[in-house]
Parts: sequence; structure tokens; C-alpha cells
Amino acid sequence: MARAIETVGVVGLGTMGAGIAEVFARAGLGVIGVEVDAEALERGRGHVHRSTDRAVSRGKLAEAERDEILGRVTFTGSLDDLSDADLVIEAIPEVMDYKRALFTDLDRICRPDTVLATNTSSLSVTAIAATTSRPGQVIGMHFFNPAPVMRLVEVVHTVVTEDGLADEVGALARRLGKTPVTVGDRAGFVVNRLLLGYLNHAATLLERGVASRDDIDNAMKLGAGLPMGPFSLLDLIGLDTSYEVCEVLFQESRDRVHAPAPILRELVTAGLLGRKSGRGFHDHKHAAGQARSAAEPAGRPGVVTVCVLGEGAGELSAKLSSAGAKAGEPHDSDVVIALSRTPVVEHAVRLPHPERLVGLHLAGGDVAEVVSTALTSPDVARAVQDLIRVVGLIPVSCADRAGFVVDALLYPYLNDAVRMYDSGYASMDDIDTAMRLGCGYPAGPFETLDAIGLPAVRDGLRALYAEYREPSFAPAPLLDRLVTARVTSIRGR
Ligand code: 3HC
Repeated sequence: MARAIETVGVVGLGTMGAGIAEVFARAGLGVIGVEVDAEALERGRGHVHRSTDRAVSRGKLAEAERDEILGRVTFTGSLDDLSDADLVIEAIPEVMDYKRALFTDLDRICRPDTVLATNTSSLSVTAIAATTSRPGQVIGMHFFNPAPVMRLVEVVHTVVTEDGLADEVGALARRLGKTPVTVGDRAGFVVNRLLLGYLNHAATLLERGVASRDDIDNAMKLGAGLPMGPFSLLDLIGLDTSYEVCEVLFQESRDRVHAPAPILRELVTAGLLGRKSGRGFHDHKHAAGQARSAAEPAGRPGVVTVCVLGEGAGELSAKLSSAGAKAGEPHDSDVVIALSRTPVVEHAVRLPHPERLVGLHLAGGDVAEVVSTALTSPDVARAVQDLIRVVGLIPVSCADRAGFVVDALLYPYLNDAVRMYDSGYASMDDIDTAMRLGCGYPAGPFETLDAIGLPAVRDGLRALYAEYREPSFAPAPLLDRLVTARVTSIRGR
């Protein structure tokens, strides 16, 4: 018989724990928020108050409702106050030893029928469950940051979770206004497994100098249509958490793309943890450190003659002409633009003035990746950026590498999703739902694959593999087979 869950304990009131406490209280449940040290307890209280005040100031919550929500939360420094909770969820730092010690205490303190849940980002729920005398009643309940906003909860069951508990916890998630996706206990579950690989790869591209922080953020936000760029999102998640999740993913996958990028280690060691410490990849305290605006004012182009080559050249040429540029030939133009989704240096070396060639790749409706080869003159690259702004596009500068920025980050993520599905871990619908609701993506990876086209993604992955030699960039066998069999929709197969 399903338990009545009316009182919930939340242990750990950092960003996630405080958000989770708010979510439960908003749904009408009584919440006991626990932090063992007094300072952290006050910070946790502050989080909940600020978040609900913000909802009031945005007109999303009446003051009386806020007071009711806050009235449902008690804050305490003692785990003993959880002795009568129906469910306790843990949201303490991602250190297995801390989690084990906490669950041993909770097992002793809580009623025998209390469900013990962990909000771990990636650690083994099975290993946590094994420290208790009730492993069948231990489950993962994984929320997403900001918890009051993101609509997904991953419900993680283990091989010893008692029958029916995942459904009960799924029903509880629905009561909170969330959508549950139930999965087994693998490192990173669905979302972090796909997301952190992508975020870590973005950090690697930054370290390799393929593009700047702001160009990568703008490319993924404005070009790929994601709600945030990877560095803004890493700062939101916290670089320490991101580092830990990558580390756990690497321990399980032994895949180099999960090995935390050295820049993550450096920033974490320096105490630059992202939003929570005021600075990470971005400076969240000083306006000067904020992302460069994508839409800088468009001045007059300083270029006189432009030659555009490649598919779609006519259309771009016409736009440039109406913006005041003169159309020329490759040998006599100030600038040669090669429209291409693959590296362009081979076109440059065939020209009399290779320093005048810039690659251009249109990503999404608004962004143009402006590609400089090893030979491109910086003045020419700048001139093309100005031209691009004049025709209403947002330029993103990058080096002449396979996939440039957007495809280099998007395709391996899509490939990982195909591998995850093909391993039998989760259905395509669950993976799509998880990425849409957990990360606010406009579409799930399988919807995106179908929209881009399977052959384009397969070929893009082959090029990425050839360039970077990362084994996981090689097209997933399922993707390869579908393209060979001329199947056009992975979801419709
Ligand atoms: N707390 C509470 N509410 C918040 C909030 C916060 N920290 N930040 C934003 N909001 C609310 C706002 O109040 C607003 O609500 P309203 O529409 O009811 O007024 C809504 O979110 C939208 O906020 P904004 O208009 O200020 O900002 P954006 O439109 O830019 O949205 C965002 C902000 C919701 C954070 C959006 O950028 C987004 O979806 N980003 C992706 C976040 C993501 O991927 N999260 C998952 C990370 S992975 C994870 O958490 C797992 C972990 O294990 C690592």
C-alpha cells in the first residue's frame, strides 16, 4: 500500500537542497530543513526566503501564499528532528563518505517505514542504500537546478529497491508539479551523463583555443538554441559539482571525454566555483566580467569587395551587396568568404591571397561562425565580423577545426544519446523528455537528430573523429546502420 507522504526532511540546504525544500513546501507538504552548522542553516533559510520573495516581486506569488509556504518549513541543526518524517531527501556535497555516514545516521534516526532518498548527481544509489538496514527503501530523487523551475525529477531505482517504490516516488514528483523519468542506477543517470560530457567538451575546446568563452556561450545559446551557454551553465551548476560528476562519469566510462578538463580543476582549486562563490568562468559580481554582448552595434563595413563561395553563396552575396559591399572574384576581393561546415584552410591555400579567406558557417537562424585559418589575417576576420553584423547575424569567432563550435559540441552529445538508447538504459522518449525538462532544451536529442538529418550527423561525427581521434566521437553503430539502411527518422524507425 502506498505510504502517505506529508512531512519531508531535506538534509543539506545549499542551492539544490534549499530549492528542493521550497518545491515540497509549495506543494503543501511540511518540510524540515536540516543543516548541521548554524551558518549554513542561515544561508539555507536565506535561499528559501530570497527565492520566494523573488516570486512575489515578479507577481508569481501573493505575499500570503509566500507566508504559507515559509510557514511549512522548519529549519533545524539536528538530524534527530527527522525522526517522524515520511521521506527524507539528502542534498549534501557529492562525497561518498559523507553520504554513507549520513545514511547510517538517518537509518538509525528515522522510522522504519521512512523512505530515504538521495539527490546525488552521479554517485551510486546502490552503494548509498547498502549502508542502511533498509536498502529496499532507498531511492534516488534527482532534481535539477534551479529546482523550483526545472520540471524533471529522475527517479533512480536500484536492483534492491522494493517493488512499487519508484512508482510511489514518481507519483510524489507529479504532486510537486514535476515529470518523473524512472531509470536504473548508472553514473550520471540520463541527464548528467549527456550534459556533463558536453559541458566538459566545451571546456576542452576553450582550453584548446578553438573559441573564446563568450563565443562558445553565444554559439550554443543563440546558434543551437539552448537556454544557456555551457560556461554560464557550468557556473550555475557549480564547478566543484561539475568536476565531481565528470570524475564519477570517468571512473565508470573510462572515456577521456569525461575526464574533467584541467581548467575545471584549476578554477575549483582557486575557489572559483561559479555563481555560488561569485566567480567561475564568468564574474557574477562585476559587470566588467560578464559575457560580452552578442549583439554589438553594427557599424559600416570597412570592406569594399567581397567574394562568397560555396552553397548558399548567391543569397549571402545579395545580402552583403545590399549592405554596401561590392561583389568580386576570388583573386581580386578584399575578403573571400567560404560558406562551409567543414574546415576551410584547403580553400585558402588555393588562393593568391590566402590571408583574405575566412570560413563561414550559419548555425541556427541567427549565428554565423566566422572561421579563421592559420593563414587568415586578423584584420580580415574582424572585417567579416563587421559585415556579418551589418546583415543582421551574430558573429562567433572560431578556429578552423572540424565541427567548428556548434557541431563539435552538439554531435557528440547526440551520439552519446544514441549509445545510451542502444544500450537499453532508457527509451528515446524518456531521454528526450529528460533533456527538455531537466535542462530546458528546446528539443530532446532524438528530436534534434531527426531535425538535422541522420546522414549529416553521422558524417559530422566521422569528421570529428578523424580530427580529434576521440573514440566516443566515432558514430554510434546504430546511427551508422540507420544511415546505411537509408532510414531517415530515428524516432520513426
Ligand atoms: N530560483 C528560483 N527561480 C528561478 C531561479 C532560481 N535560481 N532562476 C530563475 N528562476 C525563475 C524565474 O523566477 C522565472 O520564473 P517565472 O517565469 O515564473 O517568472 C523563470 O525561472 C525564468 O527566469 P528568468 O526569466 O530570470 O531567466 P531565464 O528565462 O533566463 O531562465 C533558467 C533561467 C530557468 C535558469 C534557464 O536559463 C534554464 O532553463 N537554464 C538551463 C538550466 C539547466 O540546464 N539546469 C540543469 C542543470 S544540471 C543539474 O542541475 C543536475 C545537477 O545534478 C548537476
